[in-house]
Amino acid sequence: MSSDKTGPDFTGKTVIITGGAGGLGKAFSLEFARLGAQVISNDIDPAAGDSLTHEAEGLSGRIHFVAGSMGEAETCDRLAAKAAELGGTDILCNNVGIQPAASYVPAHELDDALWDAILTVNLKSFFWMVKRCVPQMKARGKGAIINTASVQGLQSQRGAAAYAASKGGILSLTRQLALEYAEDNIRVLAIAPGTFDTPLLRDVAAGIDDKTYMERLRKAYPMKRFGNPEELARVVSFLASDGASFMTGECVTVDGGIMAQGGWAQ
Ligand SMILES: NC(=O)c1ccc[n+]([C@@H]2O[C@H](COP(=O)([O-])OP(=O)(O)OC[C@H]3O[C@@H](n4cnc5c(N)ncnc54)[C@H](O)[C@@H]3O)[C@@H](O)[C@H]2O)c1
Repeated sequence: MSSDKTGPDFTGKTVIITGGAGGLGKAFSLEFARLGAQVISNDIDPAAGDSLTHEAEGLSGRIHFVAGSMGEAETCDRLAAKAAELGGTDILCNNVGIQPAASYVPAHELDDALWDAILTVNLKSFFWMVKRCVPQMKARGKGAIINTASVQGLQSQRGAAAYAASKGGILSLTRQLALEYAEDNIRVLAIAPGTFDTPLLRDVAAGIDDKTYMERLRKAYPMKRFGNPEELARVVSFLASDGASFMTGECVTVDGGIMAQGGWAQ
């Protein structure tokens, strides 16, 4: 990995990232470690965790991998305990999110158990982490929480009832938390990524019958391309830094311009 330290300095800071060993979360983990942080990276996939810690060797910060599902409150307990061991959480990136292919059905056909699983991982885990990390941030006198939502929380498409509901919930929860903790010097922000090239995107593509969909989607983007996870990681590290000290309760869209485009444009 690069020894480049361009960007904010997170030396001595403890950063938690959920769903942090693959896709966007992996890019966030490596970015914060590159910038000097002690990164507690969670993932359900232990092999991805091993390869992440290996990839981070030589960076100025360090990655501590914690395996476990964010669908279980007990994983959140272990993440918060690890952060306490390192002095307490400074930055929480609630990033985990799932969109299983079986959920691409009209709402009335969506299985209750699948609804619950998506809402638990994508939204309830964010609440569980806030409950555990906010007391640590209060004790440290400062904190930042960055919640990964989606452009799908702003506008939607058919067949995404549970996913879209979870992402809309994240935007609303972000505003709520920002108000609750503003006087504690804890900033709370959401990001709404457009389409980024990650395993989740490839899973979504595999679940869609129309094999021309991804190419049409790519062309629908004003920049005619999808984002790279590193492009989002740079935004997240800025939002978590003192450079963004007057930003809270806001959703930052990082989407190559797709939300700027009206449906009548094509
Ligand atoms: N990729 C995109 O285009 C895109 C767009 C908008 C929003 N998002 C959001 O960004 C976040 C990350 O998405 P991604 O594309 O990197 O996904 P991904 O599936 O590529 O990677 C997510 C990581 O989370 C892990 N994970 C899955 N279930 C887990 C669980 N229950 N507990 C802990 N870890 C778990 C996976 O093993 C994987 O390493 C999600 O919240 C997603 O909704 C992604």
